[in-house]
Amino acid sequence: MLTHGTAAITGASSGIGAEFARQLAARGYDLLLIARRQPNLERLASDITASHASQVEILSADLADPQQVERVAARLAELREPTMLVNSAGFGTTGRFQRVDVRKHLDMIQVHLAASLRLTHAVLPAMVKRKRGAIICVASIGAFVALPGNVTYCATKAFLAAFSEGLEAEVRPAGVRVQVLCPGFTRTEFHDTPEYARFNRASLPSFLWQSSAQVVSASLRGLERGQRVVIPGAVYRLLVGLGDLPIVGRGLRANIVRRLMFSRKPEARGTR
Ligand SMILES: NC(=O)c1ccc[n+]([C@@H]2O[C@H](COP(=O)([O-])OP(=O)(O)OC[C@H]3O[C@@H](n4cnc5c(N)ncnc54)[C@H](OP(=O)(O)O)[C@@H]3O)[C@@H](O)[C@H]2O)c1
Repeated sequence: MLTHGTAAITGASSGIGAEFARQLAARGYDLLLIARRQPNLERLASDITASHASQVEILSADLADPQQVERVAARLAELREPTMLVNSAGFGTTGRFQRVDVRKHLDMIQVHLAASLRLTHAVLPAMVKRKRGAIICVASIGAFVALPGNVTYCATKAFLAAFSEGLEAEVRPAGVRVQVLCPGFTRTEFHDTPEYARFNRASLPSFLWQSSAQVVSASLRGLERGQRVVIPGAVYRLLVGLGDLPIVGRGLRANIVRRLMFSRKPEARGTR
């Protein structure tokens, strides 16, 4: 396991990104925490420095804004030992494609795709030069199922999966690992936005929910084993595996997922 140097984490102000920060600090990393909500980042930084020896820097930035992404990329390119980049920033929308404000779709492409790609491009040269480093892109189980009501979300996550797998093949010989992490429903602030006001977590079976600690532990375990694709939770691995069986196929898998997860009206559906 890579144990020192700096881990840069987007989406570090809550949920999965904040949990990466806590678990990586416990493994001896210094941290660069990136998100919009500076007070959250400051609180997390002070919790971490109170209990770990890590140096923690925070960088408040809106990754939907290309100029702010450039500012973050410039800081990443300056890091002496960028050992890990976790692209975790993200959000969901609810409802049919044409009913969602087009700016939300475009912001999603910017945050999920453009920012992840830009920041990966900024840290890779130093990792390749040192023959050491890891990139983790947080996609979703949605990368495997194109669901009505979540089309841009699933499409951006499918891009991240394809991007990570292709990049991994390019940089593994140079000693750099790339992982795409594909969680299912995870208890974070993801479903706490006004958009999800009608989303009721209890409407989903409890076996579909995981904690961010479970998700991040699975990711870091997978990194140690050199796993390119990490799907935390046996139930989700089974669902994804089903689609690879010729007798089931992708279409039926999407139907199973839809029935299991989304028995409500499209507007009340959640993404993950
Ligand atoms: N929770 C789930 O069920 C689930 C399942 C599968 C995949 N995921 C993925 O996991 C990742 C993390 O989500 P989470 O579950 O941890 O949700 P979360 O608690 O809401 O965290 C999302 C993070 O993304 C950041 N973010 C969102 N928009 C941003 C922007 N424009 N600029 C900068 N940062 C931004 C947020 O920070 P600020 O608001 O402070 O900017 C926050 O730190 C996302 O990519 C999500 O798609 C989540």
